[in-house]
Amino acid sequence: MTNRQICVIDDNFTKMSNVSLPPECLLKPMNFPHKVLMGPGPSNCPPRVLGASALPMLGPLHPEFTMIMDEVKAGIKYIFQTNNEWTVCVSGSGLAAMETACLNLLEPCDTALVGINGFWGERFADMVHRQGIDVKTIHRPTGEVFTLEEIEEALKKHKPTLLFLTHGESSGSTLQPLEGVGTLCHKYNCLLLVDSVAACGGVPMFMDKWEIDCLYIGAQKVLSAPPGASPISFSKRAKEKVKKRVSPIRSFNFDMNHLANYWACDGDVRRYHHTGPISCIYGIREGLAVLAEQGLEESWKKHKHCAELLYEGLEKIGLELLVKDKSIRNPCVTAVKVPDGVDWKAVIVYARKTYRVEIGAGLGALAGKVWRIGLMGYNCTPDNVRLVLRALEESLRMTRTAKL
Ligand SMILES: Cc1ncc(COP(=O)(O)O)c(C=O)c1O
Repeated sequence: MTNRQICVIDDNFTKMSNVSLPPECLLKPMNFPHKVLMGPGPSNCPPRVLGASALPMLGPLHPEFTMIMDEVKAGIKYIFQTNNEWTVCVSGSGLAAMETACLNLLEPCDTALVGINGFWGERFADMVHRQGIDVKTIHRPTGEVFTLEEIEEALKKHKPTLLFLTHGESSGSTLQPLEGVGTLCHKYNCLLLVDSVAACGGVPMFMDKWEIDCLYIGAQKVLSAPPGASPISFSKRAKEKVKKRVSPIRSFNFDMNHLANYWACDGDVRRYHHTGPISCIYGIREGLAVLAEQGLEESWKKHKHCAELLYEGLEKIGLELLVKDKSIRNPCVTAVKVPDGVDWKAVIVYARKTYRVEIGAGLGALAGKVWRIGLMGYNCTPDNVRLVLRALEESLRMTRTAKL
């Protein structure tokens, strides 16, 4: 608020009041740059998704809107490959879905086992710790994944009630193999929670077949929709765990009992819980429709193909990928090592200014050590691979020259 004050006379001209001037920045048109977002998210939204997000408002319980919610629910079940009743969107970004899983599935008598091989495991462990809940961790360096043997050993040792794994660890660009993990967890009476924010839709995911108990994603990655509503699904086992809690869920906003009712998952009449991000739900509906029309298998193939083009191109430029083992690379996000003596920030700035291409910086322990290139949903095309390679190659050449 500006300090300049003016005197105005109220409607009845009876007394004077002090009102500050409107901020000058809001009296000018918004300065909006167009960019090709080739970082780890958000992705650009296709015009169809943007068009849907700009549709007029409906009420959160209007039948036309609840029908759209039902379509979103069907779309989530498709991309997760699940028949879970408790399948909804949480209002908020991917982090809100992570918090929903934490708050509903854990209570003070529980122990969570968290797989940390990058930034997102750390984040979840922090979240659990803040709830005063016992957290045990297993570690792999960022850029590596956990084996079934390591997981089993930790399950035996810590006897957790929940195991958290990141499917697509976007800080290290790995793809955690999930087959067999759910069965293993259930053998030890433990639930499996998976973060697939930076992978699902672009790589195979079989929530039911892989016995995953809770799975969540964000809207702004492979779905290429605006952030603000995040899909999440709970298995029968996970739902039972929530229903049998001895302590109340420490959040009204993220209480799955309320959300399941609002998303018509409990067979009861829908009741108002909160006003959801209506425009984001329109957007996510269209993002899911794009994926449904394309077909999941085609989407998985497209992501794999474009990622391979990217790996080939990066090697030609002489750049090294963080993840050596091809079988555990996440095609949606690729971490590229910053060569010695290169100013990583100058490269990002050059690509942004010259090509309007946004290349992601490293996150957490890898800040300044890697760049991260995203190929997700609408942005995952061979043309974009060529564009980002050209931008990167020229940025490297020009920023090196500028330093000499
Ligand atoms: C693996 C992973 N989990 C969780 C998140 C958090 O999602 P959001 O930024 O939408 O809150 C991200 C974001 O990049 C992510 O990559």
